[in-house]
Amino acid sequence: MPELRSAVQDLTAGTSPVPDLTDPRSFLPEPPYQVWAALRRSGRLHYQEREGAPGFHSVTRYRDIDRVLRDSAGFSSEWGMTLDSALGVHDPAAGKMIELTDPPRHQRLRRLVSGGLNRSVARTMDGVLRERVQRWVEQAVADGETDFVRSVSERVPAAATGLLLGLPEREWDRLADRAGRALCGSLAVDDERVGDLDARRHSTATANGQLLVHLAGLLDHAELAEEGLIRRLLDAELDGDRLTREEVLLNCLNLAIAGNETTKNATTGGLLAFAGNPEQWQRLRRRPELLDQAVEEVLRYTTPPLHFTRTVLEPRTVAGTALRPGELLCLWMPSANRDEEVFPDPDDFRIERNPNPHLAFTSGKHFCLGAPLARLEIRLVLEALLTHVESIHLLGAPVRRPTNLVTAYASLPVALRRCTRS
Ligand code: HEM
Repeated sequence: MPELRSAVQDLTAGTSPVPDLTDPRSFLPEPPYQVWAALRRSGRLHYQEREGAPGFHSVTRYRDIDRVLRDSAGFSSEWGMTLDSALGVHDPAAGKMIELTDPPRHQRLRRLVSGGLNRSVARTMDGVLRERVQRWVEQAVADGETDFVRSVSERVPAAATGLLLGLPEREWDRLADRAGRALCGSLAVDDERVGDLDARRHSTATANGQLLVHLAGLLDHAELAEEGLIRRLLDAELDGDRLTREEVLLNCLNLAIAGNETTKNATTGGLLAFAGNPEQWQRLRRRPELLDQAVEEVLRYTTPPLHFTRTVLEPRTVAGTALRPGELLCLWMPSANRDEEVFPDPDDFRIERNPNPHLAFTSGKHFCLGAPLARLEIRLVLEALLTHVESIHLLGAPVRRPTNLVTAYASLPVALRRCTRS
């Protein structure tokens, strides 16, 4: 690909513009891996101005991203965690919603939420999810040709989150659908307004409002499972401290959003990776003891969250740039996970990769609370596929949704060829 090579050389030399990283269309048909690679090689931060919103520094190297994530005294999550929401004002949910809260208040929320989450995860693991995943994968294999997103990968986190929160089954898909819109908005790929910040914000704000109203109704749902997370959060008490109803609501919103699109897209991207690397699928079939490593490689290679923002609280220097309080950093997570300083041949999908210190769940104080559940879900899907599927064939290009927040798939048409022994 000589054109690509010369574009990358231009970029490294500073003679070629970096595409607009706020525009979701710059992330289609796939994230700008080559642009990030060139930025990593430059060793510098890249600054982008925005009209009507604060400009931001792009951070692309693993070591810089890891350092920023671990330094919560220097960098805050309370001024918005995404480019579209970080507009230079303190987020109204800061201090109440776990992901948008800095220490020391973060520690309080984390202790209260994780107490409920850990107990509920144990319950979720008790076979219900495994049985469902086996059933959905069996059906997809029986159908022969399938849209993997619809038949399997969106159903697994919808069920896991529904079980986790203690919702009746008829609520699972509805909540997942609302959570997906709240994160990615509802603008279509070919809608011109996708490039417009106000239109995107309107779309996600409307969906967030609907999700909040929906969740508020669920808090009083008569059929909430006693051991589900909603009941546990409403009752949670630690040293006399309790969550307010508003905090329960906002943290359920956080969980619903954090738990759905991420896992769905890790599973979809994982299947796509195996389809493109059939020798890796055959290796996993021969050596199922590599399953845990395969899950980690799926997480690294797909890295569902594309970016997080942090706002500078105290003067710091990152990659040679002196940063002043109030400046905005954008951490490009797939770039960290494809940094050649840490991962040899980072663009290769290799299930035996070891060590694999990926940042798909980030690092530091906000390390994903749902990581054990996310790993379980991906593992259950791979296990079910291993039982039934000899080979995976793409039937067409995957369709991605227009967003720079997560690598989101709308559909993935595949043929799953059945094992002769299944
Ligand atoms: C493959 C699936 C997942 C990925 C890649 C993922 C990734 C992440 C990342 C990167 C963060 C940190 C954000 C930051 O540093 O600002 C995070 C936080 C969080 N995640 Fe996940 N997540 C996944 C699944 C889940 C699931 C299944 C749940 C629970 C249902 C969950 C719940 C949370 C919560 C509550 C936080 C906030 C933790 C805090 O701020 O202390 N995640 N996740």
